[in-house]
Amino acid sequence: MSRPGLFISFEGIDGAGKSSHVEGLASAFRAQGRRVTVSREPGGTPLAEKLRALLLTERMDALTESLLIFAARRDHLCQVIEPALARGDVVLCDRFTDSTFAYQGAGRGFDHETLSILERMTNTAAAHKDGLLPEPELTLWFDLAPELAAERLAGAAHRPDRFEAQPVEFFRRVARGYADRAAAAPRRIVRIDAAQERHRVWQQLIDALVCKGWLW
Ligand code: TYD
Repeated sequence: MSRPGLFISFEGIDGAGKSSHVEGLASAFRAQGRRVTVSREPGGTPLAEKLRALLLTERMDALTESLLIFAARRDHLCQVIEPALARGDVVLCDRFTDSTFAYQGAGRGFDHETLSILERMTNTAAAHKDGLLPEPELTLWFDLAPELAAERLAGAAHRPDRFEAQPVEFFRRVARGYADRAAAAPRRIVRIDAAQERHRVWQQLIDALVCKGWLW
């Protein structure tokens, strides 16, 4: 996207530990004088947060799920992401469209072509002008074996939501979905080995940003 801002997403299966690094990266950018917008999907606006609550609790089929996710994304793009990028912010988003292809596409087995159509429909006016998808410049993919992620989730204090409650087979498919996305977009998606100790995960993440010339 040819915009003054910088759009970075965090991805990975539940339990991979990505969310715990979002604020750290925000601080690192702020320390270098950048304005940062931190957000998440599904969510990030009052409407999208309402849709998130439904998505995490209500039973629904894969198409309904996908439509709600893209509705939330559209609102999030229009209200938060595009304005932030236009004013030059670094936007750090906990999950974005790769989650949809991994969870609804690979995990639920929902039709990829339909997801691609919905992705194109989600284009905001600004992105649409240059015919580009609303895609992050960089995606940090926290890759962790589904068995390890399940162990970490089992140790978590909160009750599992509708996704976290899925069996390990579901997360194996989601993990393969991420691997396929990464293979198809090797420049955008950087794999972070999430099985490492926390400080090594952080170092690998920072290295990826330094390598791009966005942090020093
Ligand atoms: P997440 O923010 O990782 O949940 P938590 O608050 O538990 O850390 O994401 C919520 C869930 O939504 C997660 O299980 C994955 C799912 N999800 C999809 O299935 N498709 C999507 O497109 C997105 C953005 C999330």
